Amino acid sequence: MPRVGAAGLLQGAALIPDTFIQELLYRVDLVNLIDGYLPLKKSGANFAACCPFHSEKSPSFTVSPSKQFYHCFGCGAHGTAIGFLMEYSGLGFVDAIRELADRVGLQVPEDAGRRARDAPKITALTEIMARAAKYYYEQLKRSEKAISYLKARGVSGEIAQKFAIGYAPDGGQSLAAAFDDYGATELQVAGLVGKSDDGRLYDRFRDRVMFPIMNPKGETIAFGGRLLGDGKPKYLNSPETPLFEKGHEVFGLPQARVALRDKDTAIVVEGYMDVVALAQHGVGNAVATLGTATTATHVQKLLRQVDRIVYCFDGDAAGRKAAWRALENSLEALPEQKSIGFVFLPEADDPDSFVRKHGREAFERMIGQAMPLSEFLLRELASHCDMTSAEGKAKLVAEARPLLGRLQTPLLRLQLVKRLAAASGFSQPEVERLCDLRPIVRAAPARVPRQAPSLLRPLLRLLLQKPQLAPGLALDLLPEHSTEARAVRLLCETIAAAGQQPLAYPVLLERLRGNEYESLLRDAAAELMQAPFAEDEIDAEFAGAVKQLLEGEHKRVFAQLQEKVQKLGVNGLSSEEKRQYLVALSARGRSGGAP
Ligand code: UTP
Ligand code: MN
Repeated sequence: MPRVGAAGLLQGAALIPDTFIQELLYRVDLVNLIDGYLPLKKSGANFAACCPFHSEKSPSFTVSPSKQFYHCFGCGAHGTAIGFLMEYSGLGFVDAIRELADRVGLQVPEDAGRRARDAPKITALTEIMARAAKYYYEQLKRSEKAISYLKARGVSGEIAQKFAIGYAPDGGQSLAAAFDDYGATELQVAGLVGKSDDGRLYDRFRDRVMFPIMNPKGETIAFGGRLLGDGKPKYLNSPETPLFEKGHEVFGLPQARVALRDKDTAIVVEGYMDVVALAQHGVGNAVATLGTATTATHVQKLLRQVDRIVYCFDGDAAGRKAAWRALENSLEALPEQKSIGFVFLPEADDPDSFVRKHGREAFERMIGQAMPLSEFLLRELASHCDMTSAEGKAKLVAEARPLLGRLQTPLLRLQLVKRLAAASGFSQPEVERLCDLRPIVRAAPARVPRQAPSLLRPLLRLLLQKPQLAPGLALDLLPEHSTEARAVRLLCETIAAAGQQPLAYPVLLERLRGNEYESLLRDAAAELMQAPFAEDEIDAEFAGAVKQLLEGEHKRVFAQLQEKVQKLGVNGLSSEEKRQYLVALSARGRSGGAP
């Protein structure tokens, strides 16, 4: 499952007050939200559907209306409304919050001003694009030549439908058939209609096969239109609009979602037709950058959904250049545990022609054997250094320097340094010095050895299910060197900080998002979903857990005192310690434990 770097989340999250997130999650109904994306069926107290995050035949994706939490018993995906949008739509934390806020009519405080101005415009533009996409889609059915063009390129009706491929008729103002007011400025803002110098309005896309570019939600935000024959420009794209920021979007993302999840790999290609042809041949996890270089934003977006990106560009010089740009822009966006590979197709092939000639298996084999980023980096650098001379070798290191500096992952950097050392003849420390590498400082979560499952785990679940229990737990009873204990402590503190208003379960989880105990808490939440405590037993369960903690604490204190007594004698204890020792002794006597 993809993991999201905590630091990135916190950056955005810090701008949005907790109280807002709390209110938002109170107002959003998770069942309703998810039902809008995948139809849910009632199943006992919960709702169920086939999991959108892995492929399955029988529904194991469960949504709890009372807990406002989802969990998939098949793949383990789980979370709150915010988490769902992040996973499903690939949105960032802040964007997911904005999306939810829109749904329930709240304004995100951080950008209240901006949104008030833009919101109606965005909605109007989205509707315009949807209408245009529908119009083009219908026109395709009426155009013999567009249909035969797509057929000749091996595109089936099913795939054309999946990508909502359309056709923009040849005519000055075809869109007038789809819109009542062809002269509306919104059509120009949407990039569908242009205005000539003499004020005449005309369709931007004429006689082209239309590829809708969709945002992760599946809304059309732009188009790419291809000429049916030769001519220039071969592809015409929408201009930048309030909906469409080039360099941020990829083509084919909503269509690829399930395959991305299944393969945990995104194949990044250059062309619309590459994505379509790959899908046609059963390779569903490809997306395309839109005639622009791969940007760090692209990389971040994709790595939110998968752990691995493989760039697969054309086998020509331009493709190699594009791959190098992709490498440069991937370096700083590459978190630990994520990986990047490069595939270079035979000269004169692009993914489309390759998969048509050689088929899916051959293509996937190549993807499996992609060149690691470190190797591509070194090979490219070495290719313009004369590696037989000392100067050339020094040049290699000098050229690697700015690239190494951008890497945020110590492991990959170390790997590169080693390879650079081997290739250049410098020692590893020399390379590090020459490249002026400083240790990568990161706020790594303190690594504490996980302890055997303890009674702290149920305590976490108890507190999550019923936060009102928190005041009944004395925090100084918690053992110090245990991750779970610190998670319990944090949970209690968060609950206490909320004051009188008890925090609902999903709000608690979102409050703790990005925290080092996040995964522990989420696991506990998922366990809870599978086996919640019965309402009439939860208080007794809690009392039992607290009692056990107390006993554990007594034992610990007793053992400490006992040790001191053995070393120093009873008179080595302070009077308070003596009192404790006596209490502990008598407690042990009662419970039958020999002192
Ligand atoms: P290519 O020229 O490699 O075309 O452009 P292609 O994808 O193989 O197209 P087909 O197979 O001939 O149909 C790759 C990508 O660059 C952008 C498009 O996104 C295209 O898919 N491009 C290309 C443009 O935006 N405008 C152009 O004129 C050409
Ligand atoms: Mn092509």
